Amino acid sequence: MKDFRQHAHRIADWIADYLEGPERFPVLSRVQPGALRQALPANAPEHGEHFDAIFADFERLIVPALTHWNHPGFFAYFAITASAPGVLAEFLSAALNQQAMLWRTSPAATELEEVTLAWLRQLLGLPDGFEGVIYDTASISTLHALAAAREAAIPDVRAKGLTGRFEPAGVRVYCSEHAHSSVDKAVILLGLGHDAVVRIPADPDFRMRTDLLRSAIAADRAAGRLPLAVIATVGTTSSTSVDPVEAIAAICTAEKIWLHVDAAYAGVAAMVPGYEWILRGAEAADSLVVNPHKWLFTPFDLSVLYCRRMDVLRQAFSLTPEYLKTAEADAGVRNLMDTGIQLGRRFRALKLWMVLRHFGAEGLRGAIAEHIRLARLFAGWVDASDRFERAAPVPFSVVCFRLKNGSDDEHARLLDAVNASGEVFLSHTRLDGRYVFRLAIGNLATRESHVQRAWELLTSS
Ligand SMILES: Cc1ncc(COP(=O)(O)O)c(C=O)c1O
Repeated sequence: MKDFRQHAHRIADWIADYLEGPERFPVLSRVQPGALRQALPANAPEHGEHFDAIFADFERLIVPALTHWNHPGFFAYFAITASAPGVLAEFLSAALNQQAMLWRTSPAATELEEVTLAWLRQLLGLPDGFEGVIYDTASISTLHALAAAREAAIPDVRAKGLTGRFEPAGVRVYCSEHAHSSVDKAVILLGLGHDAVVRIPADPDFRMRTDLLRSAIAADRAAGRLPLAVIATVGTTSSTSVDPVEAIAAICTAEKIWLHVDAAYAGVAAMVPGYEWILRGAEAADSLVVNPHKWLFTPFDLSVLYCRRMDVLRQAFSLTPEYLKTAEADAGVRNLMDTGIQLGRRFRALKLWMVLRHFGAEGLRGAIAEHIRLARLFAGWVDASDRFERAAPVPFSVVCFRLKNGSDDEHARLLDAVNASGEVFLSHTRLDGRYVFRLAIGNLATRESHVQRAWELLTSS
């Protein structure tokens, strides 16, 4: 243990230096494909090695092959933060090695998850009826939501499966043309067939058109198909547009179709005064996913699924072999293995609890609001520029923009040049068929100066 103490102190210092100054590294790794693999031995060592040697290789070989998501110039995809309280919680969580399949195997992980998710639910303004459960990612949260939708819509699906039951008409799952690919993957995995996904066209601001949703459902019903679920997105991946949740919820209620809200990135903004509207209508949803690992300063990974019909999710997944039976289960405790496909689960609630306590609601709201301010500032520079133009509204902390006159190649070359600086990392998407740059703000260390630097690099490259 003496060695552990010594190494832990050394690592604590390394992490503190890292979190204080990730800017000493290029944000986007400069390593060539295959280089790390070639630099490492093909076989595990026969004899144990000293920590000094292992750590030296970590610094020499692993660190250069990192893309630094904690860098304040990270503006790609959705920028994220492993905040200090979250990192400390992960350290503890690794040491405690809780496996929270049953209440008995970790009363703390089970009950802290319940309490912490109730806190978060209140911050988001969601009603009491939503029960939360933590998974690793939004993809898995959405998979579970759609599994529950399937359970609710198809009698006996758990026992009889789908084979031969809906051909040739099939089932349908609706989402906007801008919904995340995790919807497709969930539908494929649930055996509904990829053809079940109906992508509803969006309006000019990239929001699902509810008139077209309504007519698609009517046409499918007329053709004998079973509308299984609708996914509304609050903060789509490319442009962060917000689908009209309230109108979609009204359709789902009238049609008795499961509504899942994908608020993976933007949902947390509902806690900022003035942004409550983004989840208006979500109180009528059956389920909703929000990712604290995206914009709530919680180290990757932690996704939350809120569900108003957790009994249906349990109906889909609970299965208790003899060796996992406990007396407490009969007395009504929550066993987390009942709400998902996996048996074992990490103690993820600890980091969310520590993050919520460390920042407080006020701190979280302030940080999110500041990111929105910075995005608006950047959008203003784009709007005033002769060379660039905005490609989408900026409801949150992502700005989509493009060269006023520029081919795909010119866009790609400019992006490569800017990213080669090592100071910033931006990514791209395609909107209305056109190449678009995305500047996503979400790291706690990002200041106006970093956003300014991104703009300087873009305008001078
Ligand atoms: C709207 C939306 N939903 C779902 C996901 C999937 O997230 P995860 O990586 O947690 O599966 C993303 C990822 O960016 C997203 O933008």
